[in-house]
Amino acid sequence: MKELKEAILTRGKAVNQDVLLVDSFLNHQVDPTLMHDIGESFAAHFKPLGIDRVLTIESSGIAPAAFTAYTLGVPLVIMKKQMSRIMTGDLLQTTVRSFTKGTEYQLTVKRDFLPEKEQILFIDDFLASGEAAFGAIKLVEEAHSTLAGIGIVIEKSFQSGRKRLDDLHIPVLSLARIISMGPEGIEFLE
Ligand code: G4P
Repeated sequence: MKELKEAILTRGKAVNQDVLLVDSFLNHQVDPTLMHDIGESFAAHFKPLGIDRVLTIESSGIAPAAFTAYTLGVPLVIMKKQMSRIMTGDLLQTTVRSFTKGTEYQLTVKRDFLPEKEQILFIDDFLASGEAAFGAIKLVEEAHSTLAGIGIVIEKSFQSGRKRLDDLHIPVLSLARIISMGPEGIEFLE
């Protein structure tokens, strides 16, 4: 997606060869026009699959996922990383380990918000090693629904996530695929 690649090149910063800083438009300050365009791109691509619900993970997936759900006219469900006292009742849960951050969390969603026999679209800001996406796949399976597609804003194609998802034959659309980055610049996979 042209506008996204431009934003990455002009407003993003490769901190090193593995980590891209995009906090000026994606995951700290949010550019609503860009998020709107991202939502439209995902919605147009996945609409033919008959999506019933968009699923994301707090917190940085919410902005692109919300615009996607709005454009598709379906509910958005946010999987939680932090438990709270008001998260009670019938819960679906799985453990996710973040390689980038070296942390582990319990991905949690109320079963009521993930009913069975639906077509689910998972949207997230980054695809690195794919652990968050695999957590989503597991919860959707537990809910007896189908993960129909995965929409990623920025894929780090040099990490293992995309290959692992392709092996499952789930349709993946990444709007920007980064093949390499560092002091010499950022290169995209076309
Ligand atoms: P994975 O799900 O693909 O395996 O990714 P990994 O565990 O390695 O990374 C998880 C967290 O790190 C996610 O944020 C993800 O957005 C973030 N992340 C991964 N690579 C980058 C990067 O190059 N730049 C930036 N800025 N973030 C990256 P999170 O822990 O879920 O936090 P949140 O921001 O969504 O709250």
